[in-house]
Amino acid sequence: MAVKELKPEVYSVGALHPDRRLFDEIIPLPDGTSYNSYLIIGKNKTALIDAVDPAKQDVLIGNLRSMGIKEIHYVISNHAEQDHSGGIPLVLEEYPEAKVVTNIKCKEMLKDLLLIPEERFKVIGDGDTLSLGGKNLKFIIAPWVHWPETMLTYLIEDSILFSCDLFGSHLASDEYSTSVDENKLLKAAKRYYAEIMMPFREHIKRHMEVLQKIKIEMIAPSHGPIYDNPNLIFNAYKDWISDDVKNIVVLPYVSMHGSTLKMVEYLVKALEEKGIVVKPYNLTKTDIGELAMDLVDAATVVLGTPTMLIGPHPSAFYAAYLVNILRPKTKYISIIGSYGWGGRMLEYIKGLLTSIKPELIEPVVVKGYPKQGDFEKIDQLADRIATKHRELKLL
Ligand code: FEO
Repeated sequence: MAVKELKPEVYSVGALHPDRRLFDEIIPLPDGTSYNSYLIIGKNKTALIDAVDPAKQDVLIGNLRSMGIKEIHYVISNHAEQDHSGGIPLVLEEYPEAKVVTNIKCKEMLKDLLLIPEERFKVIGDGDTLSLGGKNLKFIIAPWVHWPETMLTYLIEDSILFSCDLFGSHLASDEYSTSVDENKLLKAAKRYYAEIMMPFREHIKRHMEVLQKIKIEMIAPSHGPIYDNPNLIFNAYKDWISDDVKNIVVLPYVSMHGSTLKMVEYLVKALEEKGIVVKPYNLTKTDIGELAMDLVDAATVVLGTPTMLIGPHPSAFYAAYLVNILRPKTKYISIIGSYGWGGRMLEYIKGLLTSIKPELIEPVVVKGYPKQGDFEKIDQLADRIATKHRELKLL
């Protein structure tokens, strides 16, 4: 990533990682990602906001050298996760006078994760400011976006919010939002929100109330494009974190011999005939980022699974686990599937749903291939879902 001037003496100096395909060894990255790092040069002091992933730390150091930066006084660490902090030890080696400026929780995590010694830290608290000379930084402690130690940094004179992972997107780009195709950007930002931020919706609501009181002309997140029209991402987040759901049924399913698939196909048709948007996902080939994105808005989730041995198919077990940890605002859930001779499939799935409290609409579980009476039960399930959507005024 080339060095880019955002405002006078404020630069983007991070790195692109376009060929990275997996994050945290689970999250697909169809478009790669970027690790954004920012340099602010004041009259007296210079600060770097976050470093980059260790895989790209040479790019960051190369950018700083190419700018002729001889001194960095502060490395602001908004977040201890290694895709931003992993390059800090090398920065500290290159700039031995630099102090890591962060909150107490983040300091402890950085000591723990990166073995940075105590004497390299300067601890700040919520609302504290740091003067660089003509450029003043203000720290906003914002826990759980998406770790407990996360914070945001605000550059007062330029009204730039360095928002850490919040408002990020996995795109290998540091372009301005107004230069990127809006649909592509919002899709990537929504995918990112769904995978990373959705479990912390209630925290984000509180943080956004604080941010709304601040004049923000630019949002510079830790991943993806920089928002020179902050309202675009603010308004999108307002919708995603709201309690409002849409007239959507997400239907992740897996079928071994076609019985569950037949039920899924029948239910999809029955729901669509009632005017409900259905998003079926065959779990043997699903990109979980796409599934997570649809969970952001869906009023209802129906999980389709055969019984394997005594429980659900492992792919369905995984999907139920994901739904539980991503904690979407989904209001209703149901389960459909078949079994050969018995089992405790329903019990297993219900036991997984401990973090979310959607209302369970009576599942339809059939013996073997679905028969006339079973299809009638699926029709009744579709009727119940439609009634619930009507009660929410979605239909
Ligand atoms: Fe981009 Fe939570 O690190």
